[in-house]
Amino acid sequence: MTDHPRIPLAGVIGHPVAHSRSPALHGFWLRRYGLQGHYIPLDIAPSDFEAGLRMLPRLGFVGVNVTLPHKENLLRIADIVTDRAALIGAANTVIFRKDGKIHADNTDGLGFIANLRQNAPDWQPKSGPAAVFGAGGAARAVVAALLEVGVQELRIANRTRLRAEGFRHDFGAKVVVYDWTQAGQMLEGATTVVNTTSLGMTGKADFTIPLDGMEPGALATDIVYTPLKTGFLIEAEARGARVVDGLGMLLHQAVPGFERWFGQRPTVDEETRRVVLSA
Ligand code: ATR
Repeated sequence: MTDHPRIPLAGVIGHPVAHSRSPALHGFWLRRYGLQGHYIPLDIAPSDFEAGLRMLPRLGFVGVNVTLPHKENLLRIADIVTDRAALIGAANTVIFRKDGKIHADNTDGLGFIANLRQNAPDWQPKSGPAAVFGAGGAARAVVAALLEVGVQELRIANRTRLRAEGFRHDFGAKVVVYDWTQAGQMLEGATTVVNTTSLGMTGKADFTIPLDGMEPGALATDIVYTPLKTGFLIEAEARGARVVDGLGMLLHQAVPGFERWFGQRPTVDEETRRVVLSA
């Protein structure tokens, strides 16, 4: 036991981690609110992940974010896993509890929904089917969140069809699987459309699925935020969709962790976006 208050530490564990924008984001919030604390990038290899994670509370860490390639592994190690993290199959936010237990949550879905609520306040998730391109790790958080806010029909298409079939198994009968070669057909009547593939990301292949069937007034969003305006969003906007870029998902998924670790709920606003974009 120490007899003086320790400055709370948090950070992000990844491998690699140098590209992470989380230190810029949390560092900005710490300065903005004049809080004592530090947020540190921690490059830890998979073989050292468990030992490294368990050592952190003794060094003064109150929690961490966890990113690739550790997000699934964290579920095995944590003592307490939230229901949503278990359903998604991955966690990104750790709280080191005073009783020594490791608490793991997944806030990606919260971030996804908060981004849409902030930037399209009149969005009605129950107003029609949702269409999701892609069935990778990020899609699991998006699908879980859409179903949680009441989407009644969740259409999904993935290049590797088996992965999308797995969503039907894991998330239930509201999930309808479409073939990747006919993914554009998901758009008919869909009021929410999400790209969760890496298509359109800087340095990756373009998003080339025709969006002719996009409903004017549908809400389109991308989890990719480099570039901010992806090919998918440009095309969706040209078809009359309302578009919300993916940067807000990154910013909002960080809110619950920061609040738990440092005791202040941070606000996501234009300045936050600017700081993270220029990081
Ligand atoms: P993440 O955790 O970011 O979702 P991921 O689990 O690797 O990462 O998933 C990436 C998604 O992008 C998957 O849906 C992937 O499709 P596959 O499951 O078939 O791999 C999709 N994706 C990546 N490159 C693609 C491409 N060239 N064409 C179509 N889909 C692609």
